[in-house]
Parts: sequence; C-alpha cells; structure tokens
Amino acid sequence: MTDDVDLDARIARLDLESKVRLLTGATMFTLHDEESIGLGSMAFSDGPTGVRGLEFIGGDEVALLPNATLIASAWDEDLAHEVGQVLAEEAQRQRIHVVLGPTINLHRSPLGGRLFEAYSEDPLLTGRLAAAYVNGLQGNGVGACLKHLVANEAETERHTVNSVVDEATLRELYLLPFEIAVEDAHPWSIMAAYNDVNGVPATEQDAVNNDIVKGEWGWDGLLMSDWFATRSAGPAANGGLDLVMPGPEGPWGRALVAAVKDGEVAEAVVDDHLRRLLRLADRVGALDGAVTWPTGRPGPADPTRRAQLERIAARGMTVVRNDGSLPLNPDARVALIGRHATQTVDMGGGSAQVRPPHQVSIAEGLSARLDGVVVVDGVEVRSRPVAADLDAVSDPHDGRAGIHFTATDSDGAVLADRHVDDTTVSFGVDDGLPELPAVIRLEATVGGSGPRSIGVVGVGSWTLRIDGASHDVELGLASGDVAEALLTPPGWTTVVESDSPVRLVAERRSSGVSFGRLSVVGGPAPRPVADVLRDASAAASAADVAVVVVGLTDEQETEAADKETLALPGHQDELVSAVAATARRTVVVVNAATPVLMPWFDEVDAVLVAGIPGQEGGHAVASALLGVIEPSGRLVTSFPAADGASPAWDVVPVDGVLRYAEGSFMGYRGHHAGRAPEPALWFGHGLGYGSWDYADVAVSTGAGPGAGPGDGPGSDGAVVVTASVTNTSDRPSREVVQVYLEPDDVEQPVRLVGWSGVHVGAGATATVSVDCDARMWRRWDAATRGWAHLEGGATLLVARGLGDVRARLPLG
Ligand code: BGC
Repeated sequence: MTDDVDLDARIARLDLESKVRLLTGATMFTLHDEESIGLGSMAFSDGPTGVRGLEFIGGDEVALLPNATLIASAWDEDLAHEVGQVLAEEAQRQRIHVVLGPTINLHRSPLGGRLFEAYSEDPLLTGRLAAAYVNGLQGNGVGACLKHLVANEAETERHTVNSVVDEATLRELYLLPFEIAVEDAHPWSIMAAYNDVNGVPATEQDAVNNDIVKGEWGWDGLLMSDWFATRSAGPAANGGLDLVMPGPEGPWGRALVAAVKDGEVAEAVVDDHLRRLLRLADRVGALDGAVTWPTGRPGPADPTRRAQLERIAARGMTVVRNDGSLPLNPDARVALIGRHATQTVDMGGGSAQVRPPHQVSIAEGLSARLDGVVVVDGVEVRSRPVAADLDAVSDPHDGRAGIHFTATDSDGAVLADRHVDDTTVSFGVDDGLPELPAVIRLEATVGGSGPRSIGVVGVGSWTLRIDGASHDVELGLASGDVAEALLTPPGWTTVVESDSPVRLVAERRSSGVSFGRLSVVGGPAPRPVADVLRDASAAASAADVAVVVVGLTDEQETEAADKETLALPGHQDELVSAVAATARRTVVVVNAATPVLMPWFDEVDAVLVAGIPGQEGGHAVASALLGVIEPSGRLVTSFPAADGASPAWDVVPVDGVLRYAEGSFMGYRGHHAGRAPEPALWFGHGLGYGSWDYADVAVSTGAGPGAGPGDGPGSDGAVVVTASVTNTSDRPSREVVQVYLEPDDVEQPVRLVGWSGVHVGAGATATVSVDCDARMWRRWDAATRGWAHLEGGATLLVARGLGDVRARLPLG
C-alpha cells in the first residue's frame, strides 16, 4: 500500500493528455495501463450475482449465485459476507480486480424491472447487507462497486429519466444505503447512475458526488459512470465523476483536455480523479505489479461450491403460508406441475446474467430427492421467444450440438465460418471479428418431432428459410436504449408441423445497430391451455400433494424494462386454481424475486417464495420443501394486495419526469401510515418451520440518562431491545426478531431500526438482543439542511413484520 504523496509523485510525471487518457476505459470492461507510473490494467466485471468475466456473451463458465433479493431475505449479515467472499474467489479465478456490485437501489415501485438485483425496500436492511457483502469482497482484496448512485429505481426511459426526489427523502431513503455502506465498509468504488436527479445527470451531480459522498462522508474511492452514461466533459469532471466507462471512445479525451486548457476544469480536478483511480489500483494490487492471484479456488461445479450455493439459496426462501403441508412428507406421492418446475428461472435478465455450468430445475432437484415424482409441464409463461436449449439443435455441417455461424463483410468476404457450442452469439462485442459483419448467417437443425416453434431472436432484417419456406422478418428496437439489442432483443417464430428434424437457415443483414445478440429458437410449440389444465388436474388428483411452481421470467425481471402488472404471466393463476380444486393438498412455489399477485392464496395449503435461486436452484427448492434446509426467509418487500395498491406505483415518466411523490412513506412505511391499502403480505413476514412465543421484551439504552430516541449517529445512546423467544415447534428453527420505530409524529414514517437472527432448538428458549441503529433516529431537516434528532414520543414495535406485532414498547 502506498500513500497520497507517492500517488501525487506518479501523477506529476504525466502530462495532461496522458492523465486524461487514463480516465476513460480501454475496452468494455478494462482500464488503460501506464507503465511509466507503474500502473497495470484493471479488469472490472458484473456483478452482482456472479462474476461474469470480461465477455458479455459466451465467456467462461462461472458460479451463478442466488439473486440479491433472495440473499437479502435471509436477513443475515454473515450470509451476505459469505456471498462477498464467494464472489471474491470467483473474481480471483478470473483475474478480475473489481466486481460491479452490490446494487443498492431500493424496491420503490414493485413494477421496477431490476429490483431482483437489489436487496429490499428498506434502506437499513439494504445498507447493512451491502456493507457485509462489500467487506466479504474487499477483505479478500477484490474491489466492490456500489451502484447506482442515486434514485435509480426503475428502468423506463432509464438513460434520460429525471427522478424528482425531495431532499429529505433522498437522504432518509435513497442515499441512506450508500451512506451506511460507505461508513461501515469503505467501498473502493461507486457507480453513477444513468438517470438525472432533480434535473442534473447523476454523472454530473456536484451536490451528491462532491458535496455529500466525497465531502460530507469523506469517501476516498473512485466514482465511475454507468456504461455509456456520461454525457459531457466539463460538467461531469467538475461534478465528481472520476472515470468514464466503457472505452476506448467516450465524451472525455480531447474534450476534457480542451476543457482544462480553457479553464473550465482545473487541472487539480483531473489530478484528483487520477489519484482516486491510482488509489483503487493500489488497493486491488494493480500498482507496481503487486497482485498475486491466489490459486486453487473452487470452480463453479465443484461439489463444495455447489453445496454452498444450495444452502445460500434455500436459507432465504420464504414460507408465507402453511397449514402444515410443509415440510413435505418424504413418503408422499408428489405431482410437480408448472413450466417453472421444468424450466426454473435461475437468474434475472441484463448485465447481471452469467454463464453457469448448469442450472438445476426444480423437477431435477425434487426428483433427485424423492422417488416417483410425477412431473407435468405447465402453461406458457413467456410471450417472447427465447434461445433454444443446446440439446434441442445441432449444427447441420457437422451434427454437433449447437449452431453454425457465418459472417461476411459488405464485399462478401468471409469474416468467420465456424461451429458454435451455444444457441446464442453476439455481434459487435465479444465476437472476435475485425469489423461489424454486413451479413450473419445462423444455421441449425431443430430436433424432435411434432409441432415446434422455430425462429430467431435479434435485431435486424432477416430472411429465414425453414424447411424450404422463406420468411422476411424485420426486427427493430422498441426503445431508444442502446443496450436493448444486447439485453432485451426482439424475436420472431413460426409453428412448424413436422415429424422429423427441421432445417433453419437465418440470414441477417446489418441494421445500423452496433452490438447485440442473436439466437436460434427451436422447441415444442405451445399446447392448448385447456389440455394443459386437464393434464395438471388429473396428475394432481392422483397424488397426495401437488406442488405447483409459478413465477416470472426475465421478461419481467430484467434490466432495461419495467413491469406493467404484478399478475403472473400467462394462464398461471388458472393453473393453480385448477390444481387446487382437485388436489388433496396444494403447495405453490413462487419462482420470482419480487412481489406477484396471488388471487388463489386462500385456495392453497402452503406457499413458498423461492426467489431466483441461482445454478443450484432446483436442489435448493427441494431442500427447502423437504425441510432439509429450513427456508427461514422473511420478505424484504411488501406484497401489494392488487395492482396499484402500493405507496409508489408508476414507473413511466411523465414528460421525462418520475416523481417520488410518496416521499419517505415508501413500501411498508406508507402501508402502515394508511397511505396505501394493507398489503397482502408485509415486509418482514415469513413463517419458517418454527412457531414462536415472545416474552420479557424490554428496551434499554446503552448509555446514561438522556440517551434514547433523541440520540443521533455516533452517540453512545444506542437503544438495545431484548426478548426471550421460545420455539414452540418440534423442529429447530431460525427466528428473526425485528424492531421498528413508530414516531408519534405522523409526519414521520415507521421504520425498521434493527433485527437479530437466532437459531433455537425445538422447545428451547433463547434471549435475543437487537442493537438498534442510531442512524434511524435521524430526520433530515430541510430548513437547516442537516440531520436532526427525532423529537417527541415514539413506540418500538417488536414484530414479525408489521402484520404480526408481538410487543409495543413506548419510549420517551
Ligand atoms: C448496468 C450496470 C452494469 C453495466 C456494465 C449497465 O447497463 O446498468 O449495472 O454494471 O451495464 O455491464
């Protein structure tokens, strides 16, 4: 480790042009090196549910962790720390210096497409888990990157939307996770968001970036832009942005040099950006070749890693209803029903995607544990085509699983002609080609028989030949988002009736889009809904218990798009009701990270929210259903009772503006204040497999007289709540004791101020003590533009979610 004097001496050796060159990335995910000052190139990788590596598509096989929401549902900082350690080991295997995570935007409107990547609607839970994750990563020498600073809670018009948030709300909710993570874990980097905040781009937010984060909080790390987010040279450089990503092109370079020469930007500002970059390099070992990459880290398919990922996933799964049907009796005859059972969704869409070695479906996981599971496919859950499974197609040139890829330039010269071991390819990024091809041809033989959906995914002008028939298809972008062609490309299919393999030749002409992904589509055509419901009911009535798996896919839970409803897609609600009407017992597993509507809730016997569980998902669900690992999760976001019945709902900007009009009454805070109807399920709800009595609930203040709710951060008057909890069930279980502060002042929302998890044996009692976080006793005073202590009386609620309050402790 070096000091600022040394860093400044290195900076002084560079001329302005050389300094500025270092402040824009070298490639999509790497930075420039500069041998003359001992700076090596640094590599960044998404993040946050795995370490994808330097390639967006087709990179190495890496571990796919459960998504952030599922990790958060364990309400366990040790588990979040362990996740950080796993990611550090994954990064070290691939020589990655910085992992682009955690995502700590809040679950504001449940419609937000990207909530799956973030932890919760609560800022304390989010901030504390983020700090643990960062400590797990950085404790192993790999940098973390908090993202996205700030007010980036929805995806619609994400590059231009202006989030309008009052100062108190910004401080008390949306900046708070960043503040907590900075204070408790000193992250080495932060990412500035795409959006504007109160009319100023996040990448130019002098008030947030310089005054608050670097100034008030004393943060000394590197602030990078989100990818392609930087819109200016002078205003961004002066507004606290240190690094433009990606490169090598970008709005800084010559323009920033000119801005310095013209006096718009002081050279000292450039020096400060570079000092922060060199400080990061020093921390991750990229200065003077200091890093020695540890070897022997377990691979993603290593049995110890697999068992670890299964445990992490199962721990956060949340039992939200149970009449005793769970855990499943291992001798029961089980009918397992639903598309999400056979094609379990293990990751969300967008930059968080990775390429795992496998994704265990629930059908595979449960069948590995129980004999005689009858698996019945469900109704369609997607409206857009997806890439074919690798084993469903073969390369017509050599018969191997995969497709044949040919690329030519505008003169017809061949740029590539090869077999691809995948059904998706990229263009313009990670394709290894010297230039953007004019024509790309994908060829495949789609195996199987009977009606099949065959087609392509990808932006462009296509000519498809399918078993001799020719189709001209124009697939354009739906939004102005440059990343759409990569993250959420459009597709087209036709149904082919044939009893033998079908030949597809798809030729795509360049479309003016400079990067994206293309896939071959080929799989069974959808069956009539009535047939599916009939088969499901028949299987359910012949079993002791029907397990129906429903959920969302990466059409809803994705970067770059928001949802329009919380209803399950397709005819999944009808499927559950049809099964519940005939089954002896019905257990529903929800394979989704974020709230869904459950109109059949009272018709079924048990519901397990399984989140998006990662590569070992099917095994984790099986362990949770059977009670091999207790699904001890508690919800991290309230489930509204209906579309719109949430304190913050709309995600579509009006004239470019998204108003956070609910202020700090967001999520459970707003439901509790009656600003939205009671939710179907409260934040904090979760039954686990235990049952609990609370006794001897008491509050003490750590320090002498005067200490208590009036105390602010840094004071020694922290509030501690103690409770005796007795596990009245016949199984060991984990309880999460949650403490909320309910101020008498109705202008101040209720808020989580602390929690503590404890494992208790069957019939045993434990004393739990919850250290409440003094930072939650603050309110932002808009008049003085500073923090003030909450005044007046308040009550502490000791609760299992605000729908199940076990004790009320009046304060002051
Ligand atoms: C996302 C970031 C991500 C970056 C790099 C952007 O589209 O918003 O979270 O880290 O891409 O892939």
